[in-house]
Order: sequence, then C-alpha cells, then structure tokens
Amino acid sequence: MKMQSAKLAFFSPTGTSRTIAKAIGAGLGLEIVEEVDAARPVTREQPLKLAEDQLLVVAVPVYRGRIPGLVRDWLKQAQLKRVPVIGVVVYGNREFDDALLELQDVLRERGAIPVACAAFIGEHSFSCADAPVAPGRPDAADQHAANQFGQTARKVLDALPEGAAAAVISVPGNRPYMEMEPGGAVDFIAVGEECTECGVCAQSCPVGAIDEANPAATDFEQCILCCACIKVCPEGARSVREGPVKDIARRLNTLCGERKEPVFFFPG
Ligand SMILES: Cc1cc2nc3c(=O)[nH]c(=O)nc-3n(C[C@H](O)[C@H](O)[C@H](O)COP(=O)(O)O)c2cc1C
Repeated sequence: MKMQSAKLAFFSPTGTSRTIAKAIGAGLGLEIVEEVDAARPVTREQPLKLAEDQLLVVAVPVYRGRIPGLVRDWLKQAQLKRVPVIGVVVYGNREFDDALLELQDVLRERGAIPVACAAFIGEHSFSCADAPVAPGRPDAADQHAANQFGQTARKVLDALPEGAAAAVISVPGNRPYMEMEPGGAVDFIAVGEECTECGVCAQSCPVGAIDEANPAATDFEQCILCCACIKVCPEGARSVREGPVKDIARRLNTLCGERKEPVFFFPG
C-alpha cells in the first residue's frame, strides 16, 4: 500500500504517548500532516477522520490494564474504513494487560487495517520524587526503538497489497477485558502556596475538572487521575498528597522497579 502521508493521534496527558507517537512518525519517513491531540476536549467533539491515502498512528496510555474510557468512546466514532493503522499503548512499567488487544479491537471495529502494534514504557503518571516509577521514560533508547519500529512498520505497509483484507495482529490480552475498577472520587491532589492561579493546570486538564478562576478547586468526580495538572504546573505547586494514589506510587516503586522493554507486533 502506497501512502502519501500520516496522521498522529494521541491521548497523552503527561506527554509520554505523544513522545512515542512522534518518534514512530519520524521513523515512518512519511509527511506528518496532522497531530491530533485527543487530550483536548474540543478534539473529542469531532470523530477522527482520515483522507484516503493516509496512515494513522494512534498512541494511548494504559489505564488499569485498559485504554482510557474517554479515548475508547472517541475512537468508537472514528471513520477509519480501510485506513491502515499503527496501534500503540504506553504503560508505566507495570503491565499493559488487555489494553493493546482492546485498542486493536476498537480500530478494527471501525474498519481500520492494522499494520503494526506495539507497547512502550512511559514514566508512570503517579511517579513522584519520593516514589519514582520508570522515571524519565521514554528515554533515548525508547525513542530510538520507536523510530526503528516506525521504519519497520513502513516496510510492512509498503509490502501490503492494495485492497488487502484487514489482518488480525496477534497481541497479548484476554477477552472479556479486565474489569475497570469503579472510579469514585479520589481527592488526591495537594495545592501549595506556590500556586499563582495562572490557570495552566486548568487548560491542561482533559476533562475540564479544574476551575480556571480557582485552580485549587478540582472536581474529583470528573478527574480521571491522569496527573497532567501536576506535571504541567510551572510553579511545582501541585502534588500527590498522602492517600491511595501515593500508596499505589510507593507500591509500584517497590514492585515494578525492574526495567521493561518495548515490544512490537506485526501481521502474520
Ligand atoms: C488512572 C491510571 C491508571 C494507570 N494504569 C496503569 C496500568 O494498569 N499499568 C501500567 O503499567 N501503567 C498504568 N498507568 C501509567 C500510565 O499508563 C503511564 O504513565 C503512561 O506513560 C501515561 O501516558 P501519558 O504520558 O501519555 O499520559 C496508569 C496511569 C493512570 C493515570
């Protein structure tokens, strides 16, 4: 299949999925015509669409072994009939469980043709100075691997005959997918005196859970725990307070310290 260009679509509150998508895009050697940032609520108001001769790269984080619910809902509207697609999940060095399987399933249901799949590692959203989890990832080695993966995926794409039927790429995971634990509001963010009420946190929130006029007020019924607001704060005023999220970070720091490496999957 000869493609003219590619689109990168990512949901990446703390930036790791975006970094991986861009590194894959660089490896493809195709013109990247658009970066679709699905963390912006306005992006998710429209279904994802592609032109006929475009390849799609989708990169999303793993949340509780699945893809984030709001990403799934958005992708379920996507118009991807006969669009070749590279599906990627990025996880915080614990496991990616059923997320890559679920991502491929959603893309195939929308009519896309899977070209390649991969799972990469990103610094865990809950990682903090006193409980680091995969800090600094994706690092230079991960980004190099993503570039190489992009190059290989391009070769697979070029070798696909025009009109090829959608293949199923064999990836780890089980159906039914693991149950997402019931959400429930968790008030886990401390806002310190350094806060200047600049509103950057509110602008970064994928679900509009932070009041721009009063950023100390976070609506934890809406919050998806993505931690974008913590990582983006220019004053370092927001942090994970003591409680269940901090406990998870400590547990992951103890149990998931061993470095995991990216894995790639191709048809056949
Ligand atoms: C609510 C939530 C659940 C998560 N669940 C998992 C998980 O099941 N396994 C894992 O390894 N990492 C998990 N993570 C970590 C993210 O997958 C990881 O940090 C990813 O790199 C974040 O992507 P982003 O930087 O594009 O936002 C979770 C993060 C959040 C916020």
